[in-house]
Order: sequence, then structure tokens, then C-alpha cells
Amino acid sequence: MIIRAETSDDVARVRHVVLSAFGQADEADLVAALQASGDVEIALVAMHGDQLVGHILFSKLAAPAGCLGLAPVSVLPEFQNQGIGGALIRDGLDIATRKGWQAVFLLGEPAYYERFGFTVAAAHKFGTIYPKPYVMGLELTSGALDALDGALTYAQPFLDLES
Ligand SMILES: CC(C)(COP(=O)(O)OP(=O)(O)OC[C@H]1O[C@@H](n2cnc3c(N)ncnc32)[C@H](O)[C@@H]1OP(=O)(O)O)[C@@H](O)C(=O)NCCC(=O)NCCS
Repeated sequence: MIIRAETSDDVARVRHVVLSAFGQADEADLVAALQASGDVEIALVAMHGDQLVGHILFSKLAAPAGCLGLAPVSVLPEFQNQGIGGALIRDGLDIATRKGWQAVFLLGEPAYYERFGFTVAAAHKFGTIYPKPYVMGLELTSGALDALDGALTYAQPFLDLES
């Protein structure tokens, strides 16, 4: 399995992976909307031979400054629980760190994301429209979160989902 940057040739196969992983269209439509709006900062795919089996997307938050949102991450059902999601998350976080992003936030299951260093505590002081027990953060630059506050605000395509 290799992980590489998503290209424009991958769009249809990425949609298939996201649809299959979530079993509904909302997240695949979100990925398409983020691709169209130009809000994608990091997008990676996992390849098993010629087969595209996983995908992850990081988008720039409208606030706080210098922070990314991780969502969604998707692995084809028949390839789940083989470490592919974890590898996509770790590679994405490495790239985000190298590029100098301050922190990453997500809405997810703490039991899964804690293993990558995300904590609910890191996100706690930020306002959010999402349920707090599932809003998690990970500081990439030491001390970065101390200087930030306000409301976590995702890119517009996420906000369109809520309306
Ligand atoms: C969540 C997902 C990306 C994880 O990818 P994966 O390749 O299956 O995960 P990994 O193999 O790296 O890790 C597997 C571990 O994660 C755990 N895990 C997977 N989904 C979980 C969840 N929703 N809650 C808690 N733990 C979860 C598994 O139980 C397993 O735990 P273990 O290592 O203790 O045995 C994948 O299962 C998926 O696409 N799910 C459907 C879409 C989704 O819910 N995406 C996340 C929200 S954006």
C-alpha cells in the first residue's frame, strides 16, 4: 500500500471510496464541494496496487487562523482495520506539520482519534456548533493553541451542510 497526493484523475474513484465508506452521499458531496470551492489544503489517497482504497482531506478553517480541519477520512469497507486510515492520518499530519500549520481540528470518535494525539481538551476553549465531546484538536506547532481563541469555523461547504 502506498500513500500519495490526490490528483484530478482520482476524483471519480475518490467519490466511490467515500460513498462506500459512509454508505451515503453527504460526505462524498462534501468532498466534491470542497474540491470545487478551492478549500482543500491536503488530499491524499491510499493505493493497493492499482486500486484506490482510501482517502483523506484536510481543509483550511475560516478560524482560527493557520489551522486545518480533518474531514472526511474514508477507507473502502473491505480494506478497513488494516491500518490504512491510520497511515493516511499520520501522513497527512506529517505534511501539515512540515507546511507549518498550527493545529488540526476534527469532529470524531475520541476512541479512534486519541491514538494520533488528538484530544477533546485541546479543542475545549473554542466555540463550536458541534457536540463538544466529539470536537478534538491537535497542536502541530508547540504553544500555538495558547495564542488562539474564538469559534472553530470550517470552510463554507461544511457550513452549507448544516443549513
Ligand atoms: C474510520 C476509518 C477511516 C478508519 O480506517 P481504518 O483503515 O479502518 O482504520 P485503522 O485500520 O487505521 O484502525 C483500525 C482501528 O480503528 C478503530 N476504529 C475504526 N473506526 C472507529 C470508530 N468510528 N470509532 C472508534 N474506533 C474506530 C478500529 O476498531 C481499530 O481499532 P484497533 O486498532 O484498536 O483494533 C474507516 O473505518 C472508515 O472509512 N470508516 C467509515 C467512514 C468514517 O466513519 N470515517 C471517519 C469519520 S470522518
